[in-house]
Amino acid sequence: MSNEFDRYADTYDQLLDGSIPDALRENAYFAEYKVALMARRLRMASIKSILDFGCGLGRSLFFMHQYFPDAELYGFDLSPLSLDLAKRKMPQVTLTTKWSEISSIKYDCIFAANVFHHIPKEERKLAMVNCHNLLAQDGHFFLFEHNPFNPITRRIFERCPFDQDAEMLFKSEVEALANLAELMVVDSAYTLFFPKQMAFLRGFEPALRRLPIGAQYYVELAKA
Ligand SMILES: C[S@@+](CC[C@H](N)C(=O)[O-])C[C@H]1O[C@@H](n2cnc3c(N)ncnc32)[C@H](O)[C@@H]1O
Repeated sequence: MSNEFDRYADTYDQLLDGSIPDALRENAYFAEYKVALMARRLRMASIKSILDFGCGLGRSLFFMHQYFPDAELYGFDLSPLSLDLAKRKMPQVTLTTKWSEISSIKYDCIFAANVFHHIPKEERKLAMVNCHNLLAQDGHFFLFEHNPFNPITRRIFERCPFDQDAEMLFKSEVEALANLAELMVVDSAYTLFFPKQMAFLRGFEPALRRLPIGAQYYVELAKA
């Protein structure tokens, strides 16, 4: 049976680009931004293994390889075709659609970017519990999501073909889900306030982090 994202694997980047206004097309910039943010947060931690949960085409894994050169990288996704494409770019990464192939490891870090809004509402708690179970006792779980409060994010979301069946989550919903899965919130903030052309303003982001107008947000979680 073909996976929903298999339909889009070949054209994922073009479809995403087509949904985003010209001035904001910068998929790689967004992917690196998130990995760099995670690397800053983890600069004191010893990270030997990272799982990219819902890794898609491996865009974040590409940057994780640069920012965490000593870490063993793993990617899990339900779309075999996306993983085939990711494997071409990242042959050194363990990529799988089979939970059994990643579930015997406890990860120092789990990263999930724009995955939970694709998981049906009734399955999100289980997905969060599964991530909890894969996390090392002192591990770090970074979850990035679209910010439904941001009108430009909403517009892109509504135009994006592979978001048709998806449903965005508010930051408070992620925090409530985490709580149900016995994960505690270590930090959370709104992010991506400025497009690439205005990257010189990024120094202001820490001061804006509580304002619910960033294009996305992150929640950093740990075992309670
Ligand atoms: C919008 S894409 C994001 C891909 C990648 N994280 C990124 O930032 O480029 C969402 C991905 O989540 C995957 N996905 C959806 N539901 C999932 C689930 N329950 N478990 C793992 N991956 C899932 C999809 O197959 C798709 O590749």
